[in-house]
Amino acid sequence: MRRKIIAANWKMNMTVNESGSYLDTFLLEVAEEKRLDIVLVPPFTTLAYVSERLNKIQNVKLGAQNMHWEKGGAFTGEISGAMIRELFARYVILGHSERRALFGETDAIVNKKTHAAHEASLKPIVCIGETLAERDADKVEQVLETQLRGSLAGLDAKMLTDTVLAYEPVWAIGTGRTASPEQAQAAHAFIRKVLTEISDAATADKVRIQYGGSVKPGNTVELLSQPDIDGALVGGAALVARDFAEIIKLTAAL
Ligand code: PGA
Repeated sequence: MRRKIIAANWKMNMTVNESGSYLDTFLLEVAEEKRLDIVLVPPFTTLAYVSERLNKIQNVKLGAQNMHWEKGGAFTGEISGAMIRELFARYVILGHSERRALFGETDAIVNKKTHAAHEASLKPIVCIGETLAERDADKVEQVLETQLRGSLAGLDAKMLTDTVLAYEPVWAIGTGRTASPEQAQAAHAFIRKVLTEISDAATADKVRIQYGGSVKPGNTVELLSQPDIDGALVGGAALVARDFAEIIKLTAAL
């Protein structure tokens, strides 16, 4: 049985101030919830503050939204894995479609970052997903396979097991349009099949695959009850403490 994992991708939202009142509400709501992994992923400037607030709280983990693959040096504006790990973060989102589309991240770059994350003892949440044009052209499987093979190249079974994948159809992100549970399940099952080819069936069976794209309390149950959907990466709805807590509670009760 794969333990479910629900993560809040705050994107470029939430100042330290704003996250303070969010956490006042959120931490009370989920204080007793231990049946799944909960991850908050704030922007870099808010990481240290959220880390401090999560000190002594066992059931809510911390993640970052990106990192550089080098350990340090002349990379103005970048952040290393060790810097993130030092703040007690356990996860890092890599290759989000916004980074791929707006900041030129390729599978090769995501691959370097994925290796660097493991070296820094961070669990990467590697995002993949097709655009609407690619879906309309019937290229979903081709796109997913290329992204998977490129982003995960060279990872051994242990690293793969410690990697979370997020299937996020680009056309469903921030649009209010969600993949149907059947569309999402089909993509997740295909991803697991490719993982079996990359590694082996036992490893593929352990890898958690999140769905992302307009997840909200109203569609959580139908999506998260699919056999290969092991969690959610939540953007918009995770900016509202009560909504994100509700998504967690609905998932935990499944
Ligand atoms: P959304 O974002 O929930 O606002 O669609 C999801 C994501 O980009 O991770």
